[in-house]
Amino acid sequence: MIPSVLPTYSRAPLHFVKGEGTWLVEEDGRRFLDLGSGIAVNALGHAHPALVAALTAQAQNLWHVSNLYEIPQQQALADKLVEASFADTVFFTNSGTESCELAVKMARKYWYDKGQPDKTDIIAFAGSFHGRSSAGIAAAGSEKMTKGFGPLLPGFKHLAWGDHEALEAAIDDTTAAILIEPVQGEGGIRPLPDQCLQGLRKLCDEKGVLLILDEVQCGIGRTGRLFAHEWAGITPDIIMVAKGIGGGFPLGAVLATEEAASGMTAGTHGSTYGGNPLGCAVGCAVMDHVTDPAFLDGVNRKAGLLRQKLEGLVAAHPEIFEAVRGTGLMLGLKCKIAPADLVKAGYEALVITVPAADNVVRLLPPLTITEDEIGEAIARLDTAASSLETQAASSV
Ligand SMILES: Cc1ncc(COP(=O)(O)O)c(C=O)c1O
Repeated sequence: MIPSVLPTYSRAPLHFVKGEGTWLVEEDGRRFLDLGSGIAVNALGHAHPALVAALTAQAQNLWHVSNLYEIPQQQALADKLVEASFADTVFFTNSGTESCELAVKMARKYWYDKGQPDKTDIIAFAGSFHGRSSAGIAAAGSEKMTKGFGPLLPGFKHLAWGDHEALEAAIDDTTAAILIEPVQGEGGIRPLPDQCLQGLRKLCDEKGVLLILDEVQCGIGRTGRLFAHEWAGITPDIIMVAKGIGGGFPLGAVLATEEAASGMTAGTHGSTYGGNPLGCAVGCAVMDHVTDPAFLDGVNRKAGLLRQKLEGLVAAHPEIFEAVRGTGLMLGLKCKIAPADLVKAGYEALVITVPAADNVVRLLPPLTITEDEIGEAIARLDTAASSLETQAASSV
């Protein structure tokens, strides 16, 4: 009999009942160190007092009004995002997937309004992830995500990750935009080198193509800057945001330049819930933290410490680990074993990690993780790796 919850996830038998900072409490009382943050969502950890205060204050006044009316919390959050980024304008969504939908629509509409209606193709990359809607799976293009769901939304081309020459050759008169994650998340924590991002910007300018960056996972302070692309010193035309911006409240956004957004006039797009007062009140509180230079300095310092300790962990367990990769607090342990085995051993050692493609286990802790907790994380990962070594030795 089909379970009452549609079984699209194979779930671990863990029932968390409470979150406190970097900690998740299981109903049996066990305390897990959370290095997953709900897949890069709980940027300020669990139950951050500022977010709880923002949400409860808003909940006592007004939960929802339609986008038919002005929403001051939405305006405030848009102003904060515009002030802190390349963007001139923001549309709020409820998820990364919806941000992908709008980014694709915005790019196509831009060229349509410029009198170039044939420029509809989006070039995307192998190993990418942009969500589970029809546009999201067509953009990612992998067999795993698209099989059985055809006919797929047309107009997506897929290239190998990091092949600049192939990209140059693939751009033609039908190309509307390039869509890429500055750091691939689901694909296995693969950062695009700064030179590649700079090269992409240049290519887009030369060929007349929009640059869309998917910062759903790598944005909102995760790499030590508000947005990952800032490290390369470039500005995109459109970015997709979600996850961390709501700190756990479902919230997403598309940020764009005035030029790129010029086709999106009244009536061209909408959302019932996108930008609702509850979500935006929380988003404002998140932004107040993650745009503070001292907060970002802390992220960078802790990222350096975590990386250094992970290098030691990898060296101590050469049968289990191959390398550390990633940037900021978006790090991956490339494994020699099945990543799911490490994640499971982590549960036994009371530490939460997240598997990804390319044999990688992701570490995406709350940006508020403390240095002591980083030490504890390494101790628990060490226990997990040691138990896998013991199992392997006893099965020989
Ligand atoms: C890079 C990226 N884009 C898009 C998405 C889709 O976001 P959501 O699950 O909020 O729809 C994700 C989710 O993991 C993601 O990592």
